[in-house]
Amino acid sequence: MGHIICIASLKGGVGKTTTAVNLSASYAWNGSKTLLIDCDPQGSATTGVGINKQKLRWTLYDALVGKSSVEETVVDTDIGLLKAIPVRGEFFRAELELMTKPGKEKVLRGILADIRKNYDYIILDTPPSLSLVSINAMTAADTLLVPLQCEFLAYESLIQLLRFSRLIKKKLNPDLKLAGVLLTMYDMGEKTSQQIVDNARNHLKKAVFKTIIPRSVQLREASGIGKPLVVLDAESVGARSYLKLTRELMERGIKPKQ
Ligand SMILES: Nc1ncnc2c1ncn2[C@@H]1O[C@H](COP(=O)(O)OP(=O)(O)OP(=O)(O)O)[C@@H](O)[C@H]1O
Ligand SMILES: [Mg+2]
Repeated sequence: MGHIICIASLKGGVGKTTTAVNLSASYAWNGSKTLLIDCDPQGSATTGVGINKQKLRWTLYDALVGKSSVEETVVDTDIGLLKAIPVRGEFFRAELELMTKPGKEKVLRGILADIRKNYDYIILDTPPSLSLVSINAMTAADTLLVPLQCEFLAYESLIQLLRFSRLIKKKLNPDLKLAGVLLTMYDMGEKTSQQIVDNARNHLKKAVFKTIIPRSVQLREASGIGKPLVVLDAESVGARSYLKLTRELMERGIKPKQ
């Protein structure tokens, strides 16, 4: 049964989508059946795996509001074992329409129950906010993976998110665990980056992954052309760092559920 990992951060532009896309692709590259679900109305993960939004019949919105089955929303990507549930502009309406549903925080959890047996890993990319959709994603997840950009000011919103996730655990999802905090956009040899790494490790200890994602022009360019970097150049530093992350997650016990 698929292990559901929610990629979350309250701060925008910290590498959530880049992580969701490249981690999903790395899992698929390693031979795991993987489903990437784009829960962000911006639709960057949808574009990031090369899906043409114009050609879609159904999206996550339709499954959440009951207009289609969840199976109907799953689309293929260019990477064999990687499938995706995309979003489009109309996803902005989901927030409003979910508001009046009974059990509105658990709608995503409910629809994933039908399909998680088909996958080894399910990765949720979320928006940088505490929207009802983000709450749904955290409530559906087994674990939370939190990117922390190697820049000042990023740390405070990380602490807020960790506090919020404890609330979700208490009220909605008692089994939710922290997979770890992932340092992203690390500039080799730059003092600020190293200070953020040291600070995060001092305060959050083992919650911080050993794997660090470097700032990489290739990772940035790959997102622009709708291909995960592991597909374009599996030997690049950026791709290798995400492949390394899959191994570290495995060491932390994050694996398909029995
Ligand atoms: N390791 C990296 N090296 C270089 N550029 C990166 C890296 N990770 C992400 N980026 C770039 O930084 C920008 C923001 O990244 P991304 O979209 O992944 O962040 P996000 O947290 O999903 O943003 P949002 O909160 O808007 O959804 C993008 O242009 C992306 O290509
Ligand atoms: Mg994003």
